[in-house]
This record gives sequence, structure tokens and C-alpha cells, in this order.
Amino acid sequence: MSTRIKAIDDVESLKRVTTRSLQDMKQSGIPIAMLTAYDFTMARVIDGAGVDVILVGDSASNVMAGHETTLPITLDHMVYHAQCVVRGVSRALVVVDLPFGSYQGNSRRALASAIRVMKEAGAHAVKMEGGEKIAPIVERIISAGMPVMGHLGLTPQHIYRFGTYQVRAREEEEAERLKKDAKILEEAGCFAVVLEKIPAPLAKEVSASLSIPTIGIGAGAGCDGQVLVTHDALGLTMDFNPRFVRRFEHLADRMTDAVKSYIGEVRGRSFPSESESY
Ligand code: KIV
Repeated sequence: MSTRIKAIDDVESLKRVTTRSLQDMKQSGIPIAMLTAYDFTMARVIDGAGVDVILVGDSASNVMAGHETTLPITLDHMVYHAQCVVRGVSRALVVVDLPFGSYQGNSRRALASAIRVMKEAGAHAVKMEGGEKIAPIVERIISAGMPVMGHLGLTPQHIYRFGTYQVRAREEEEAERLKKDAKILEEAGCFAVVLEKIPAPLAKEVSASLSIPTIGIGAGAGCDGQVLVTHDALGLTMDFNPRFVRRFEHLADRMTDAVKSYIGEVRGRSFPSESESY
């Protein structure tokens, strides 16, 4: 397959990133940058900065709502977050997580959930966690015209089955299972697959074996792209410190300083000034 994207300039000049752009980026060896967003203002900033994919992740359950896991967030909540994000994005591909309970074990319900996300929010694709077991559901959604991103490895919707947030697929059996699942998702028609918290050599092998891009989180540099939760990357979350998170800023500290300045200036009556008054 020929690629229309040969260099980073070609990516940066894209008016719209599509699933095809990501495929072309993989072929040309250009890493894909993906971040999460859950609201209009954040989406506008990270889209304006040039991120390729914005994920409206069900991590909104943790980051926005303060839950311990991603399980409580509902489809209604995800549609709302996706609507807010889509209004702030003009270039990035917007992918929305189908939340726990909205697709597992029932392809008719899964199809209805995906349709809601695409129709009511104007999302460009959906993401689902799981391998072979959800392949028929993935196929059904794709055959209705909606692109699907897969998600393997440490899939947070399975946290109570895993019982731990430790690295997955360290053992041979689980690694083999993951390789098979990745192939199955590719054959089912997924346009990309997230690999979360698995050994870097395994992620590299899976990435080389697939024609679709892999997006890693805690899966090393051998993936075709990387994703982080924006609030982790910007240092807004303070009590989540896994090894794979790099803090590109320390916004919580800077915000704390700014809020303290505000309080001080209100108390000292230097805010508002005359020029800030009518
Ligand atoms: O919900 C989310 O933010 C995710 C990423 C961690 C991949 O699924």
C-alpha cells in the first residue's frame, strides 16, 4: 500500500488526522502522539499543539470524577465528555472509550453504544478493551461503518479479575495469548491497538507483526505511537506515579502557586485594580 505521508511535515500539514493517516504514519515510521481529553478547553489546547489522536478515555472516571477505577463511568457520561471534546477539536482524530458494561457480551448493545458515541458526540472512532472474546462485537461495529481501536495488556476494565495493576504478559502463556489477540483484532478490522503495561520486547514484537499501528502506554519505545493521560503528563495528578509516566510539566504546583497569589491579592485588596474595574 502506498503512503501519502512520508515525513513529519506531511503529518503537521494534515487538516484532519484520519485512521488512514495513522496507517501511513506507521508505514513511514513516524511515531503517533496520542493524549487524553475529557473537556472542551483541554481538547482545544492539545489539538492546537498538534497531537494526532485525542482519546476521550474512560480514565475520565478517575481523573474527572475521582473514582478509584474506570468501572463506574456510564455511557451517558462518556457521550457528554465526548461532546465537549469534539467541540474543541479541529485536526486530531477523536477516539472514545466504550465504558464498562456498554459492550461486553452483547453485540446488539455494543452496536447501539457505538452508534450513540458517533451520532450524539460526533466522535470519529471507538475503543474497546479485550481480544478474541470481543472480536465478533468489534466486527459488528466495524461492519456498521465505525472504526474501532483495540486495547490489550493491562486493560483497566478487568482490574478486579487481574487483582493488581502490575505489568501484564510477563509469563509465556499470557504473552502468547496477547500476540494471538492482537492478530485477531487486526483481522477483525481494528485500525490500531493500544498496548498497556506489558514488557517492551513483547510490545516491539507485536508492533512488528501487525500492519496496523500499536499505541503504547507503559509498553516501551518499540510501539508505533505513545499515549498518556494528559493530567499525568502535565503533572495535574499528584498521587499516581507509575514508572511509565513522564511529567512534561508540574501544573498542579504552578496552579497552587497561582491560586495562592490570587488569595493573597484578594486579601490585600490589590485585586481588582482600577483598570480591572468598571
Ligand atoms: O482511558 C484511558 O485513558 C485509556 C488510556 C490509558 C489508553 O484507555
